[in-house]
Amino acid sequence: HEEATKVKNVDQIQIGKWEMETWYYSPFPPEYSDCRKLFICEFCLKFMRTEEALGRHLKRCPHLHPPGIEIYRKDKVSVYEVDGAKNRMYCQNMCYIAKLFLDHKTLYYDVNPFWFYVMCEVDSVGARIVGYFSKEKHSEEDYNVACILTLPSHQRKGYGKFLIDFSYELSKIEQKPGSPEKPLSDLGLLGYRSYWSQILVELLRGERTSSAISIQDICERTMMKTEDIIATLQVLDIIQYYEGQHIIDLRRVNNLKIGNRGLRCDPSLIKWTPKS
Ligand code: COA
Ligand code: NA
Repeated sequence: HEEATKVKNVDQIQIGKWEMETWYYSPFPPEYSDCRKLFICEFCLKFMRTEEALGRHLKRCPHLHPPGIEIYRKDKVSVYEVDGAKNRMYCQNMCYIAKLFLDHKTLYYDVNPFWFYVMCEVDSVGARIVGYFSKEKHSEEDYNVACILTLPSHQRKGYGKFLIDFSYELSKIEQKPGSPEKPLSDLGLLGYRSYWSQILVELLRGERTSSAISIQDICERTMMKTEDIIATLQVLDIIQYYEGQHIIDLRRVNNLKIGNRGLRCDPSLIKWTPKS
């Protein structure tokens, strides 16, 4: 499609103390699109064209955390829920930033129908963004994540798994199975595959007999959609389809080597109720 043929414009961004190379084109507003490097306030996500402008901004920016409300806090990790309809500029800027690291996504300029869940590292000064996911307020396809990003400065530390875990904990509170929006990027698929495998292997290792557990049970306990459960068990090669039934081979579960656990959220610390 058209965007894919456009050349990358902004080559670098700086957010807080982190400088990073960008990966893909993002349709920044014209006043920024000729900048090689953008300077971004890590609290309000405003863009600046120069380091000096960012310096001046930081002296008067009153924000020390994302807008919205903090719905999770454990040690240094916090999550803010931001309403796309209430904090449009913040959420639009988040989308522009995310597009720098996503090849295929069509950017949603209309942020009103989404919630944004922003993960931060907290220090003595404030809550500094490390990643986020967005979620449609009403998804007809049962998507529980629209877009998910760990800033490259913080990737491969398990934060992606924390965000994915958080999205499923919200689905558990809603009592509604969910799945990430398709298509997933290559990295998105790696992250989800790894997370799903771990969740399923941990759950199955706690089971004594496979006759006791059905795909439906697993769905109810994890809020993963059945197609994601079956696909993951197939990749792990521990499921057979036999006489119209899925049969999980529990003996093989114990021999599986699975990746590192990443960071998990503590569901007892989520302060959130589903909106109608
Ligand atoms: N190459 C190979 N594997 C990778 C990888 C890479 N560059 N980046 C992550 N992974 C794997 C990790 O190895 C890990 O699995 P493991 O523990 O079994 O080894 C798993 O993915 C998750 O790692 P984690 O550190 O929790 O993820 P992350 O914080 O790096 O975030 C994404 C993962 C997908 C959110 C991040 O790569 C990202 O923001 N990408 C750009 C945006 C995007 O594509 N989003 C998804 C589609 S909307
Ligand atoms: Na592109």
